[in-house]
Amino acid sequence: MTAQLNPRGDVAVLVPAAGAGVRLGPGAPKALRRLGGEPLLTHAVRRVAAAPSVHSIVVAAPATEVAAVRELLAPVAEVTVVPGGATRQASVAAALAAVPAGPEIILVHDAARALTPAALVESVAAAVRAGAEAVIPVLPVVDTIKEVSADEVVLGTVDRAALRAVQTPQGFRRAVLTAAHAAAVDPLTDDAGLVEKQGVRVVCVPGSEYALKITRPFDLALAEYLLGSAPVAGQS
Ligand code: C5P
Repeated sequence: MTAQLNPRGDVAVLVPAAGAGVRLGPGAPKALRRLGGEPLLTHAVRRVAAAPSVHSIVVAAPATEVAAVRELLAPVAEVTVVPGGATRQASVAAALAAVPAGPEIILVHDAARALTPAALVESVAAAVRAGAEAVIPVLPVVDTIKEVSADEVVLGTVDRAALRAVQTPQGFRRAVLTAAHAAAVDPLTDDAGLVEKQGVRVVCVPGSEYALKITRPFDLALAEYLLGSAPVAGQS
């Protein structure tokens, strides 16, 4: 069933989905790989669309798949689909340029985090609404982390207590994200990195185990296992 977005919502969600997914092995672009019989992107968009504050969704698709992605998502939710770019950052910039007037909170969410519950979308948006300029969902780091040299010799041990693993969706005041992308020089792997370079204070909210990034074959197998218990709208 097509989810109805909220015309009075204050949140636009950008979903970069143009990556090749080389680390998943040979096959379709990553966002179109199947999980429980449906593409990862379908799962991700369904959950974003279930968040009550969401006014609009813009997907950056692989350039050759724009029409196919529009068709794929039409029964899921009303989305705008634009061609992505050569890097994640270029794909986010393309999606950002297509956000309609209105929403003042912009979330950037990886299609690869297909099982992210709507509750996490809402909690990130709520933190921006409450006054933060930039918000990231994080989890504590459970492994001990070592810094190593190029030839794999340990240089030191990093204090784990001060580290966080960062997820998406990342949330921003619209003007903050727009300015950070306009000023961007080198591609970074997340949007918070861009706004940090602008001197913006980035705050953390609790992430969700379900927001794992599906990158390698093991992650896909884990997501298959989790699919039955993964909430769409409920608690993160
Ligand atoms: O590259 P990585 O695996 O970190 O990708 C994170 C997200 O960015 C994925 O959803 C992927 O589809 C997207 N991406 C994109 N355009 C690219 C590269 C990655 O939209 N050129």
